[in-house]
Amino acid sequence: MLLRAPSFLALVSIVVCSLQSGESVVVDDFRDPHFTTSDACAVCHIAAPGATAMKDKDGEDISPYYTWQGTMMANAFRDPYFRAQLQKESASAGEEVQELCLRCHTPMTHHDAVLNGKAPPRLATALDDMAADDGVSCTVCHMISAEGLGTEATFSGRPKINGERKIFGPFADVETRPMRAQVDYTPTQGDHIRSAGLCASCHTLFTNHHGTAFPEQTPYLEWRNSEFNNEREGADPKKTRTCQQCHMAEQAKVRIARTPMGFDYRIPEREGYRSHAFVGGNAFMIDMLREHRDDLYVEAENEQLRAMAKATRDQLANRTARLSISDSSKKDGVLEFELSVENLTGHKFPTGYPARRAWLKVEVLVGGKTVFASGAVNNEGRIVGIKDEMRVPHVRTIEKETDVVIYEMIASAPGGQPTTYLTKMVGRIKDTRLLPRGFDMLGPHIKDIAPIGVGGDEDFVAGGDRVACRIALPAGAAGACEIVAALHYQSVPPVWVDALREVKAEEAVRFVGYYDAATKTPETVATARHTVK
Ligand code: HEC
Ligand code: HEC
Ligand code: HEC
Ligand code: HEC
Ligand code: HEC
Repeated sequence: MLLRAPSFLALVSIVVCSLQSGESVVVDDFRDPHFTTSDACAVCHIAAPGATAMKDKDGEDISPYYTWQGTMMANAFRDPYFRAQLQKESASAGEEVQELCLRCHTPMTHHDAVLNGKAPPRLATALDDMAADDGVSCTVCHMISAEGLGTEATFSGRPKINGERKIFGPFADVETRPMRAQVDYTPTQGDHIRSAGLCASCHTLFTNHHGTAFPEQTPYLEWRNSEFNNEREGADPKKTRTCQQCHMAEQAKVRIARTPMGFDYRIPEREGYRSHAFVGGNAFMIDMLREHRDDLYVEAENEQLRAMAKATRDQLANRTARLSISDSSKKDGVLEFELSVENLTGHKFPTGYPARRAWLKVEVLVGGKTVFASGAVNNEGRIVGIKDEMRVPHVRTIEKETDVVIYEMIASAPGGQPTTYLTKMVGRIKDTRLLPRGFDMLGPHIKDIAPIGVGGDEDFVAGGDRVACRIALPAGAAGACEIVAALHYQSVPPVWVDALREVKAEEAVRFVGYYDAATKTPETVATARHTVK
């Protein structure tokens, strides 16, 4: 069996052991000195029938435990794409690479070993650890200390974990006794929990497999270089937003915990409560987790995963980008217009993992009949008319059906050719991901985050891109032209899966099977329509 059994099995066996050894069953018995799995926190941090705590005005459960369970972070170790890619990298770079991957994808297993003076664990060890499946769990984020946050010392999955069983939270003067008694942690106010630097520790990844540092994931550095950065000199407080402010929705005043028995007894209501549904862009994978929930031992229920996928699609459709059409004209059988794309996120879009891509689809109809189409996809999710999807140059003007503007990062292997192996990446050949608003071309870390391959395109600017379209209409196409444009997005493009097809490891085969069975309709992030008479 590849995946571990659900953690409750492990829990039961440990309870039985401690009964046999004659000890009383104290929850603490099966915890390591640092971390605790999320089920222990759920005792007081999930909504209950008898209490108003952690419910919205409609009585919906907005508790940390419930909202977190359906997220990609809670499922970071179960994630079948992660597992497949891990096998692919291990086959090529050796099993030692797993020591790097597990830092962020199963941080409790990693940090626990390292803090206890052991070697960084590999997959085989993680599969035997009951904490591994809990992914980026409560005690990971809440035990990160302020030391070194926002600096290279903590990037690439190296936050400092406090050794005093302190659970940092945003509020001062909380009631500490229930947590000390039940889980032996002390809730402690720490402003750093609200800082972007906390997220930066895992959301900044430099790899170094060939003697050069490669910026694999840099949303924090991009954010730091944008107008959203609240710590930037001269920052306009009306425009700044932290990762938490965008990724953890603020809720009305509410109790942040309840008693283990399910009451509100003596727990006050607090302003500034945020939900733990860390909504990103990977609706595709959340659907996959739901479709294969049992095989993957996913603990979130179908309902939670459905809600998470819906929230992700809402965010993609409404808060990610805007598209508009302007300056249109039709003269001598040529239709001209301009497309403007605006990035609304707090970092580059697409964001994070190097596979992500977005592109423009442009269609022109005359009398209801399509006379021009570029950027359409087939049912495998491949862009029609493009031969090599790893070598598509940046397009400034759309004139032919094969002119497709793709916003993406393509990395190169040591020989210079494009690669989908994380452990072969040494440079960026192309990085045309849309820049966030206020992006500073002279800011810190610019060499790792500056756009690449847009050379001379002065319309590719902080906050977005403008694309000229000049389309020759077919002879005889009379009447008004209808322009229909869309910005599409894929988190797992088919070329990234192609390379996994060659990996014979079981987990790669399994993921490819799931992928082939999934619907490949890309996400639609923005649309625009315009008619030219
Ligand atoms: C510094 C922390 C960190 C390390 C180390 C790390 N990852 Fe990740 N990984 C992430 C984050 C954060 C994301 C999500 C980013 C996003 O959604 O754009 C991610 C996403 C992924 C994904 C995409 C998952 C999906 O469902 O789309 C794969 C695959 C992956 N990582 C594989 C690996 C492998 C293999 C390694 C080791 C070679 C590795 N990661 C090392 C932080 C890390
Ligand atoms: C990815 C990191 C992360 C994980 C995982 C995480 N938290 Fe949090 N949590 C935060 C941050 C950040 C805040 C503060 C948000 C703010 O106020 O800006 C927070 C706030 C809280 C609060 C204060 C009330 C509120 O929600 O604002 C509680 C209670 C809490 N978390 C419990 C939990 C529990 C229980 C889990 C596991 C089920 C958990 N957290 C998992 C980052 C995390
Ligand atoms: C026995 C019940 C109980 C358990 C179990 C429990 N908590 Fe709490 N937690 C509370 C109470 C009560 C508060 C304080 C409520 C208040 O004063 O508003 C609290 C507050 C918090 C806060 C906010 C601290 C601050 O200063 O802002 C965080 C974060 C938190 N808990 C995380 C966790 C995590 C992580 C776990 C699991 C290791 C956990 N809790 C387990 C009852 C519990
Ligand atoms: C201990 C490491 C760690 C920390 C700290 C951390 N993350 Fe993550 N985060 C991850 C990993 C790993 C993934 C990717 C899981 C996957 O796709 O398999 C991820 C994924 C995400 C996603 C992507 C969801 C999606 O749909 O693709 C968002 C959004 C996110 N994290 C936000 C945050 C925010 C905000 C913070 C700070 C409050 C934070 N993270 C702190 C490790 C971390
Ligand atoms: C202004 C709001 C805003 C801010 C600030 C912001 N984000 Fe995002 N983020 C978004 C939106 C919208 C998306 C969904 C579209 C996308 O994938 O970029 C997103 C997506 C993500 C993803 C998921 C990418 C994927 O592949 O699914 C990660 C990871 C992420 N953000 C991390 C961060 C981190 C870390 C910070 C702080 C350094 C941050 N975000 C700040 C709005 C924001």
